[in-house]
Amino acid sequence: MKILGIESSCDETAAAVVEDGRNVKSNIIATSLEEHKLYGGVVPEIASRRHAESISSVVKEALEQANCTMNDIDAVAVTYAPGLIGALLVGVNFAKGLALACDKPLVPVHHLRGHIASNYISNNVEPPFLCLVVSGGHSHIVAVNSYTDFEVIGKTRDDAAGEALDKAGRTMNLPYPGGVSIDKISPQGDENAFKFPKPRVSTSPYDFSFSGLKTCVINIVHNARQKGENINVFDLAASFQKSVVDCLLTNLEKAAVDKNFKKIVIAGGVSANSKLRADALSLCRRHNWELFIPELKYCGDNAAMIASQGYYEFIKGVRADESLNAYATMPIDENYKTI
Ligand code: KG4
Ligand code: ZN
Repeated sequence: MKILGIESSCDETAAAVVEDGRNVKSNIIATSLEEHKLYGGVVPEIASRRHAESISSVVKEALEQANCTMNDIDAVAVTYAPGLIGALLVGVNFAKGLALACDKPLVPVHHLRGHIASNYISNNVEPPFLCLVVSGGHSHIVAVNSYTDFEVIGKTRDDAAGEALDKAGRTMNLPYPGGVSIDKISPQGDENAFKFPKPRVSTSPYDFSFSGLKTCVINIVHNARQKGENINVFDLAASFQKSVVDCLLTNLEKAAVDKNFKKIVIAGGVSANSKLRADALSLCRRHNWELFIPELKYCGDNAAMIASQGYYEFIKGVRADESLNAYATMPIDENYKTI
């Protein structure tokens, strides 16, 4: 069964053809990242315009590279939430039009479910497992009970891990996205040079909070600037990265022990982070847990992951009609209607 996936929730316009949920036939990504770099963050209006300009050619290329036409496609899967609303709408409306014109079933896919599914493409892993999903907009610990049954164990009460890394990077005058820049320069710094507080969250032992850490790094930089002192950016980046990774893995470890999970999965843009990958591996080795992380090319936003999750949603009977809308926010455990 071949699914055409379409993704446009942020600054990547992506389309992919995936067979039976796991076999990637094509994976095309156009990004407007370079333009957003000028502003230090994604400008929603620019992202929407670029999606509208490139979506037709991206989908066409995905079909061509997969050596197929719409006749060979069994269903169209599209990211409908969460994300930038104007950006999502471009993908959703394109997918609706295509599905209607070609008389194909339309399958709405939650973006974070897609990130988790990037592991089905990269790794031979099946639910149930415990997943840390860390992206620019979300930080969740999720029990993935089946391909379509998700239970949120913990989540951030304020900023996402990626967002905190991006803001910290911006404060340190590093190129956008800060998470990528911090990962790049951290090996040249001493990760114990700066001490960051360990955030405490009263709601749940598995919840995160990154806004205090973010404020802390901003204060360190501003105080030094006011005093005319120089800061070793390598040390600061490495220390901040360590504090973020420690927070993520402390809660992940606690959740896995308490809920008795021995299969651990990491997903989302931040799963590309070298320290997170290395420390997660040490953690899992220590406990004798299995660890799965996507290949680097599937960590960031792509449509192969949407087609993969779309396959499992399709099999379950999830369908949308032309009334499908896009949503800026949507809980990962909320199911779309089935037939
Ligand atoms: O999943 P993603 O591509 O988009 C969203 O769904 O948000 O995640 C983007 C986030 C950004 O915050 C970016 O800085 C972060 O992932 N990121 C990284 C790395 N690569 C991307 N953070 C740390 N280290 C990386 N290597
Ligand atoms: Zn994403």
